[in-house]
Amino acid sequence: MKVLVTGGAGFIGGNYALEMVKKYPEDEMVVLDALTYAGNLETLESIMEEPNFKFVKGDIRNRDFIYNLFENEQFDVVINFAAESHVDRSIEEPDIFVSTNVMGVQVLLDACRKYNVKRFHQVSTDEVYGDLPLDRPDLLFHEDTPIHASSPYSASKASADLLVLAYHRTFGLPVTISRCSNNYGPYHFPEKLIPLIISRALNDESLPVYGEGKNVRDWLYVTDHCKAIDLIVRKGKVGEVYNIGGHNEKSNLEVVKTILKYLNKPESLIQFVKDRPGHDLRYAMDPTKIQTELGWQPEYDFDSGIKATIDWYLTHKDWWEHIINGEYQAYYEKMYGNR
Ligand code: NAD
Ligand code: DAU
Repeated sequence: MKVLVTGGAGFIGGNYALEMVKKYPEDEMVVLDALTYAGNLETLESIMEEPNFKFVKGDIRNRDFIYNLFENEQFDVVINFAAESHVDRSIEEPDIFVSTNVMGVQVLLDACRKYNVKRFHQVSTDEVYGDLPLDRPDLLFHEDTPIHASSPYSASKASADLLVLAYHRTFGLPVTISRCSNNYGPYHFPEKLIPLIISRALNDESLPVYGEGKNVRDWLYVTDHCKAIDLIVRKGKVGEVYNIGGHNEKSNLEVVKTILKYLNKPESLIQFVKDRPGHDLRYAMDPTKIQTELGWQPEYDFDSGIKATIDWYLTHKDWWEHIINGEYQAYYEKMYGNR
């Protein structure tokens, strides 16, 4: 099987590539990534020389480039992780979110049709469902919960989901969609809450908590997300949406205090700052469908996952310090500039 993983130099795509290249030596994997500010080839260093792995730099919005790649490689499966993924950036600059997360996905869908790809999998998010109230812990997002996006980011992801489903219904394209809750773990870009708090706390810097820190997220360790995607791609039913989540709801303040406790740092580092506009209150997933139909179960709960994550950031300081000081962006030039 030949698999295209788009956005594989990012957080979740990177974890997916690292695990699956080793797990399936009989498959060939091509990672395509535009290496935006969020893409980091250092993440893929340990598999760069594997015989079943190839990295290609490119943009999913570039139709000619994408068609050429599909013609040359004849992929069986395409898994799309490529996206602009940060909500705060989408509030500052929505255009690039529509361009990559909607138009880029359409280019991939057209390429899948033209070159008869056997499965297109779209990595989507719980944010397409909007949010839930803080005082109704009984409510969860189900696959048939109406789309109700809040931010330009989630609106762009919701638009992509609608396009993917439309290509299935109208053209018969074999697609699946997964909608996952908040991920955390190794190789997470330090603009997102958990790696931001870990890296700043280690440097004794103030820790920005939006509003009163009461917003709730449903946290899933990244490798559990990757295993779920792998199951959907291999065993999931074409045309279906699968929710992914592990029932690990925590308020932001609880998350920040847990990290401070593990690192033995004082809570006085916490600084409450102006809230995010349109800030979603609570996300919570019902993963019953993927559990009962495909037998997926997460391996990590929040306690084991956050400990593993903090240990990783403690032992991989080079990785996140290169991001903070900007050195990671020179890596591609150094490794591939003259090839
Ligand atoms: P990320 O920002 O860490 O990685 C995105 C990757 O896509 C980067 O490597 C970037 O260089 C690449 N990319 C961006 N624009 C591109 C383009 N035009 N062409 C090719 N590559 C491009 O994001 P992530 O957190 O790894 O998220 C991956 C996917 O999972 C996204 O689609 C996101 O919406 C979804 N998701 C994320 C979470 C989460 O908690 N992080 C949860 C659920 C779903
Ligand atoms: O739910 C899945 C989504 O999770 C993904 O689709 C997105 O790609 C991913 O970025 C993430 O979105 P969030 O907005 O939930 O993640 P973020 O890490 O930006 O913020 C988590 C919570 O922490 C949120 O309530 C905002 C808050 N926050 C965030 C930052 C960066 C703070 O309080 N302070 C901060 O500095």
